[in-house]
Amino acid sequence: MTDGTLRTDRLRLTPLDPDADAASLHRAYGDHEVMRWWNRPACADPAETARHLAECTGQEDARLWTVRTADGEAVGMAGLLGEIEVPGLTWLLCKDAWGHGYATEAAAAVAGHALGPLGLDRVEAWIEATNRRSRAVAARIGLTERGRLAQHYAHRDRPHEVVVLGRSRTEEPTTTLAVVTDLPVQDVSATLALLRTALGARSAFVLGDPPFLAEAVLGPWSTGPRIRIEAAEHRPAAVRLRLDVATDAAPVHRRAVDAGARVDGRPVQQPWGRSEFVIRLPEGHELTVSAPSVPS
Ligand SMILES: CC(C)(COP(=O)(O)OP(=O)(O)OC[C@H]1O[C@@H](n2cnc3c(N)ncnc32)[C@H](O)[C@@H]1OP(=O)(O)O)[C@@H](O)C(=O)NCCC(=O)NCCS
Repeated sequence: MTDGTLRTDRLRLTPLDPDADAASLHRAYGDHEVMRWWNRPACADPAETARHLAECTGQEDARLWTVRTADGEAVGMAGLLGEIEVPGLTWLLCKDAWGHGYATEAAAAVAGHALGPLGLDRVEAWIEATNRRSRAVAARIGLTERGRLAQHYAHRDRPHEVVVLGRSRTEEPTTTLAVVTDLPVQDVSATLALLRTALGARSAFVLGDPPFLAEAVLGPWSTGPRIRIEAAEHRPAAVRLRLDVATDAAPVHRRAVDAGARVDGRPVQQPWGRSEFVIRLPEGHELTVSAPSVPS
């Protein structure tokens, strides 16, 4: 193992060499179906694949391996991405190597290496919510869901939802699972109605007639980001909330305007990679709706 090769029952993972391995790996990096989930479009030719691989391997702390079957054939890539705070696992296989358990075997070896010999405390994988095969790999190597976020790749029309799955070296105590915001308002029903129309919120519960307390869940499920709306006797102090959405800002903006909300102008591209606009509630509260925008 001194040359950095990892071995599993059926595979050999050799440190990825962009120049030597690009020609074989281009079968994956040049395939639109394989690259459907990637943060860039399929590479046009082996030279572009080599450049992309050189960029990835050149990042600080990146460790990528070429996945080889017993006969030495390169069938894919697995490894750890560089230049991110929590070490991120990555994997991909040529289409004709799908369905044999190779990705799971390779990813398990990389995760074991990361949490074992490399001594990392935790590894995670960011996987598009609809990428069923990749999520199955993550589940088989013991990664569990830690949260969700939205991304917008430069080559795509729309943002997408990402599941962050992680595994730590030793069991960790349960961390805070949610932060629930208390929002004091003058009219609980009107605020709930606005959150329903603009942001698709559901009410987890509504107490009183007229309501004095309600909980809005900002999504279609039983749990998720929540806002507890409570009736304030006097004009409450204004608060500012930022709501991350996994869609384009424009339709949310349109619905907020249609719902009669006071909205400051159209969504504005921010330097931190988000497109944002502000909904102002009658009490002076500011709800900033923040959507991922295309990276510049
Ligand atoms: C993600 C990706 C690597 C998964 O490939 P995969 O072949 O589905 O995953 P595995 O190699 O672990 O194979 C698992 C499949 O092989 C089957 N299998 C067959 N023989 C097997 C064996 N001996 N051992 C284990 N599994 C075996 C499993 O039953 C499973 O099949 P199923 O999906 O029908 O249940 C592949 O779909 C890919 O390259 N996608 C595009 C790139 C990508 O999305 N990367 C991740 C970005 S986050």
